[in-house]
Amino acid sequence: MRRVIEYYNTLAKEYDNIYKDIKYMRSVEFKVLKSEIKKDYLILDVGCGTGEHLMYLRDYNIIGLDISIEMLKRAKDKSGKFVVVGDIQHLPFKSRSFNCVISFFGALNHVQINRALKEIRRILVKEGLFIFTLANLYHMRWIFKSLLRKGWWYTVKAIKKRKGDITKVVDGKKIRVNTRFYSLEEVEDLLEKHNFHIKYTFGTYITNSPLDNILYKTFLKHFGGYIGAVAVKK
Ligand SMILES: C[S@@+](CC[C@H](N)C(=O)[O-])C[C@H]1O[C@@H](n2cnc3c(N)ncnc32)[C@H](O)[C@@H]1O
Repeated sequence: MRRVIEYYNTLAKEYDNIYKDIKYMRSVEFKVLKSEIKKDYLILDVGCGTGEHLMYLRDYNIIGLDISIEMLKRAKDKSGKFVVVGDIQHLPFKSRSFNCVISFFGALNHVQINRALKEIRRILVKEGLFIFTLANLYHMRWIFKSLLRKGWWYTVKAIKKRKGDITKVVDGKKIRVNTRFYSLEEVEDLLEKHNFHIKYTFGTYITNSPLDNILYKTFLKHFGGYIGAVAVKK
């Protein structure tokens, strides 16, 4: 956990700049949110980062939570929303407090997923919504690139391992964080195990073009950079 905090505290000042070219992924995320979220919901964004979704949902009752204080400072400055330093695996809220929990762009790839899902379920009201994306094990564009650059054995081994590193350079210093990838089938099994009903699953960052707004619920969702679901607490 310490390495995750250090990584994001260092990345925070560059984060929005590094990820400025993901507007098509954002448009799919926003489309899903817009169609699912109601005005009277109390929403928690876990792993809110620099507050992209707090900004998008600024006219709603929404709170941001993140483990990195530097990411949160930016989220607070950008959105003006209430933010909390905390861990998705031990949420500092009473049971059945929120109508909706959201988590986008891979916060869930850094945690013990069973603990996180247990906590998210605990703080949701009955029939509360859980809307999220996480990094996909079968990201086709990554697989093609890896086959071309590193070959078959490296790529198959990396997929089998399911774990990898994200590396960035900030102020000339290399920073690295561990991440665990999931397939859409695994996500479905996990949601069922934790007693969520799956309303639908979707993919983002499939072609990284406006086409993603049409393809996000098709079978190509299995091969996007990020996979997600709209799930309901049973
Ligand atoms: C890739 S960023 C995504 C941020 C934001 N949701 C977005 O869409 O840009 C992942 C975020 O998850 C946060 N995070 C990682 N592990 C966490 C944990 N255990 N509890 C809370 N936040 C966590 C990181 O600090 C980081 O801000």
